[in-house]
Amino acid sequence: MNPFQKRRAVLASHLAPGEVAVIPTAPEMSRNRDSNYPFRFDSYFYYLTGFEEPNSVLLLNDQAQSILFCQPKDLEREIWDGYRLGPEQAAEKLGLTKAYSFDLLDSIAPAFLSNHDTIWFPFGAHPEMKGRIETWIDAIAKKVRTGVRAPHSIKNACLILDEMRLIKDAHETAIMRKACDISAFAHIKAMQYCSRALRLNEDIKEYHLEAELLHEFRRHGSEYPAYTSIVAAGANACVLHYRADKAAILSGDLVLIDAGCELNGYASDITRTFPANGRFSAAQREVYECVLNAQEAAIAATHAGSKFSDPHDASVRVLCEGLLAMRILNPNTHGKVEDVIEHKKYTPFYMHRTSHWLGMDVHDCGSYVEPSHSKDTPPLTSWSELEPLKTQSTHAAPSRVLKPGMVLTLEPGLYIRPNPDVPQKYWNIGVRIEDDALVLPQGVDLLSRGVPVAVADIEQLMS
Ligand code: GLY
Ligand code: MN
Ligand code: MN
Repeated sequence: MNPFQKRRAVLASHLAPGEVAVIPTAPEMSRNRDSNYPFRFDSYFYYLTGFEEPNSVLLLNDQAQSILFCQPKDLEREIWDGYRLGPEQAAEKLGLTKAYSFDLLDSIAPAFLSNHDTIWFPFGAHPEMKGRIETWIDAIAKKVRTGVRAPHSIKNACLILDEMRLIKDAHETAIMRKACDISAFAHIKAMQYCSRALRLNEDIKEYHLEAELLHEFRRHGSEYPAYTSIVAAGANACVLHYRADKAAILSGDLVLIDAGCELNGYASDITRTFPANGRFSAAQREVYECVLNAQEAAIAATHAGSKFSDPHDASVRVLCEGLLAMRILNPNTHGKVEDVIEHKKYTPFYMHRTSHWLGMDVHDCGSYVEPSHSKDTPPLTSWSELEPLKTQSTHAAPSRVLKPGMVLTLEPGLYIRPNPDVPQKYWNIGVRIEDDALVLPQGVDLLSRGVPVAVADIEQLMS
């Protein structure tokens, strides 16, 4: 069995008799007029099939019988858009029970779903397909006098698939390791390009470094970046969702690059912050080492059996100690580290979480609370308590316990905007350091450390 067949077998084992899963790939998206965005398959669909073509749907029952609907062979379309595997070859090539032309989906799927009670379908991403499934159910229901039973419930397949995807198998970790190696190499190239260009007195813009990253990603076989690359010079590093724009990079700036390639469907996610000219100033170094110490604390707090929130809590403590030591937070005003943590006085300088799951999606799927406790948060007892969802606490349930095979980022940062209460030497310094950690029984394997983090190592490689 290939890894995709194994995953289909696991999904099937979660289905009760009378249940069936419908997993579509992503729709093609128009960019403007005749141009589409580059097609990227749906992660759940690819996870179960390894199949990259658009206009495809997988049906799977509890016996692990699998039917793929895919694009038919069509010489004219293939002349314009490229090769199609076609249903005649798909079943054998992908290890499926059967494959049909996508054109037959609406006529065959209702027959497959007849006499099944429950359809599992990934909620949240396929509004068109959800409507289509409801149309099939209506069509089956109309035949009830012939003795067929129509499905009567649709459940969220993400509940099963997210748990599966959260623990990476050997096939996945091997790809993620390679993706991280490529991204690490690209970061090194961009750093070296930056200091060399400044030494040669060349004009250099943020997008020049982005070009270095993209060149290295592609040169090593990555299909595309896993997310929009951030290349932020100077004060731009304090904008969390900055992109690689057109600001000039000046000697004396810090540059923050948050960029990672996608390889065979898997993301990498690396941030490095470095001095454009290759030498940290004293103030830059102080902030940098504070963030680095916070990341070291996060790493030490990450292992099988620790909680997802532990690296964040460990980072926050070290960052708060540093903010007080640097007088970015004045101890006379803000008190001791415990006060700063309790009253969240650090949030003007550190406003994001330290980690997220990483996998096929850069912010990968998977519950951040223990599944056994996810029902512990009681529903509101009164409608008068209702308020917009984003303001409701999500922290009541216990944080997820880490297990070997989970992959998460460790990415503390400090972002210091001009502020009369903060020593001016720190203004506009933004630092984030981000690595990708595979959880092991005893600790972590940092997949992205092909690019160094220590001050001396960065200065050395940029010299
Ligand atoms: N690059 C996206 C993130 O770090 O979350
Ligand atoms: Mn990240
Ligand atoms: Mn990132």
